[in-house]
Amino acid sequence: MSTVEQAVEIDRDKLQQFVFRAVDEVGATLNAALVVMGDKLGLYRALANVGPLAAGELAQRTGTAERYVREWLNAQAAGGYVEYDPDSGRYTLPPEQAVALTDPDSPAYLPGFFQIALGSVLDSPKIVEAARSGAGFGWHEHVHDVHEGCERFFRPGYNANLTSGWLPALDGVVAKLERGALVADVGCGYGASTIMMAQAFPNSTFVGSDYHDGSVETARRCAQEAGVAARVRFETAPAAAYSGTGYDLVTMFDCLHDMGDPVGAARHVRGTLKPDGTWMIVEPYAGDRVEENLNPVGRAYYAFSTLLCTPASLSQEVGLALGAQAGEARIADVVGAGGFTSFRRVAETPFNLVFEARP
Ligand SMILES: C[S@@+](CC[C@H](N)C(=O)[O-])C[C@H]1O[C@@H](n2cnc3c(N)ncnc32)[C@H](O)[C@@H]1O
Repeated sequence: MSTVEQAVEIDRDKLQQFVFRAVDEVGATLNAALVVMGDKLGLYRALANVGPLAAGELAQRTGTAERYVREWLNAQAAGGYVEYDPDSGRYTLPPEQAVALTDPDSPAYLPGFFQIALGSVLDSPKIVEAARSGAGFGWHEHVHDVHEGCERFFRPGYNANLTSGWLPALDGVVAKLERGALVADVGCGYGASTIMMAQAFPNSTFVGSDYHDGSVETARRCAQEAGVAARVRFETAPAAAYSGTGYDLVTMFDCLHDMGDPVGAARHVRGTLKPDGTWMIVEPYAGDRVEENLNPVGRAYYAFSTLLCTPASLSQEVGLALGAQAGEARIADVVGAGGFTSFRRVAETPFNLVFEARP
């Protein structure tokens, strides 16, 4: 077979538009580092809810070097994160940005999103190599910013939805939790969801598990600090082998697609649930077809999936690599193959799908 090369006409306007769009995207890429810098140095917190500040004043309040702070502020002003007043030479953090950048209890809280993005970018040379060989790269191998950023990114969404919307959407589960239920939170990471449920349901007992021992250690510490350690136990275990049986509820938050063998995990959940138990699966929002995910949320998730989720699954046995945009139909297949007879979508947000599976 031979191919005939055709001369392709280049539309110079479209080319120029694409280059200018790329300027914006390079600025946004670098801004991930600047947001994490502002978060770590306390620059946003010092700017929030005070009047306009000059660079020197902000540097003084945060114990940082004025020359760096001035350059950082100008980048923030160019990106619309802070406002600059040329007459006074001072900078203001608008109230909406102050909420999104400094209030960890707000569903709009953003620093964790940037922190996990930056951590993913920092580790990307490892993924370039993995893409050549087809090898995986485990969740546990990533830099600390990926693990901590993950918790800080997801917690606000769980805080806004878990006890008020997602658990009540499950058939009969809240009543059991109020009476006193046994719950396994699998792939729990730093345990944000486990601790949140334990705080909301003081009669229930929780077992959080994750295959990453570093995350489990942090989860234990967080449970102590939150005062729920007496009813919350954490263990290092893969999803296909966490301990215990007779669970009323098993939960998985944003982790099923990261597992190498989600069907094996599903089978284990089936074997550890009570006959009338419930498996709640929270997954990233996605449509079943690629074209449904070609939007800003899908773009961010496909990018995380390339750098984090797909390599994580490929690093484990089976390596099914569902990807972060697996969608409902593929999750339903996994759940069915694990031996569950009932599966339905019970809730969704712009970022998450929530499913209920019953034996
Ligand atoms: C995206 S993080 C989500 C963590 C946590 N559920 C949350 O919402 O913050 C995915 C988690 O799945 C865990 N994980 C991946 N593969 C696993 C497996 N086979 N068994 C148990 N945990 C696993 C990782 O260690 C990581 O903590």
